[in-house]
Amino acid sequence: MPIALTIVGNINVDFLFRAEKPPSPGENLVAKDHQISPGGKGANQAVAAARLGAKVTVVGRVGRDPFGQLLTRNLEREEIDVSRISIDPSKPTGTAFVTVMPSGENAILSSLGANLALNATCIEQAFATIEDIDGILVQLGIPLSSVDRVIQIGTDLGVPVFLDPTPIRDGLPRLWRYCTSVTPNQSEAALLTGLKTSNIALAFAAAEKMHTMGVRRGVVKLGSKGCVLFDDDGPRRVRPYDVQVVDSTGAGDAFAAALAVRLTEGADFDEAAIFASATAAMACTKAGAQSSLPTRQQVESFLSRRGKRKMLTSGAR
Ligand code: RIB
Repeated sequence: MPIALTIVGNINVDFLFRAEKPPSPGENLVAKDHQISPGGKGANQAVAAARLGAKVTVVGRVGRDPFGQLLTRNLEREEIDVSRISIDPSKPTGTAFVTVMPSGENAILSSLGANLALNATCIEQAFATIEDIDGILVQLGIPLSSVDRVIQIGTDLGVPVFLDPTPIRDGLPRLWRYCTSVTPNQSEAALLTGLKTSNIALAFAAAEKMHTMGVRRGVVKLGSKGCVLFDDDGPRRVRPYDVQVVDSTGAGDAFAAALAVRLTEGADFDEAAIFASATAAMACTKAGAQSSLPTRQQVESFLSRRGKRKMLTSGAR
């Protein structure tokens, strides 16, 4: 039986430009090419989880415009339940401008539009009709009060709530530390904990502080350096899988979704984090946020080719 994951988050249309760099003030740059593709952290995580075998329901909001329709249909094609995606009568569908540089790194400017109209009432109405929930995954591309409502509902239901705390705009959800796992990158971890996270030793301290503050399983993502973990068993590090990076857009989403899927399935933290790290590495090898997301079978064959346990080191090293 597949696990049932409810994913609450933003749905965007991505305008992806391949260019040497994003323009600076006063500059008028020409990109190598561009593509328009489905994105948004909530939608990317939903597609990632569905391809990894979860039964996914999305709670989100789009505008009454052609992008909203296309993005919803795209999720439906991935066999995701879209019946809790509502349409906002006055706000446009969320939109992101993504510059992908030759190194595969990206710079993103997004406007959340209708995503910011997914208020606590929409959340309550949506959850009232979802029957099957084994776990909940949420990010910050919707109002913070709605994120808090999601965390509260998940806690009341007694299901794990996974928070990917991005993008951080104007503060944090009040209840973030009550989540089962939280997966910030280094700069987000600094904001959550008030600690510096500029190197791996400091990132370990931030993961430990998240755990001390209440998060059962703290993760700090380190991009090309892997990630660090902290739970009741202390600190560990997952080293990165070496891949040819084409476009890292959506890699963090792939990580968060894969971790949520494996933890909800009952995997232990180390195994789930190695699986998430492999999924994120694979997501960097193709262009686009969703087109690069691998299937369960692809991740499993990658893991059996590349190995699992050698990627893990115990202790803060
Ligand atoms: O994480 C990548 C996503 O961030 C993009 O798809 C873009 O829409 C922004 O929300």
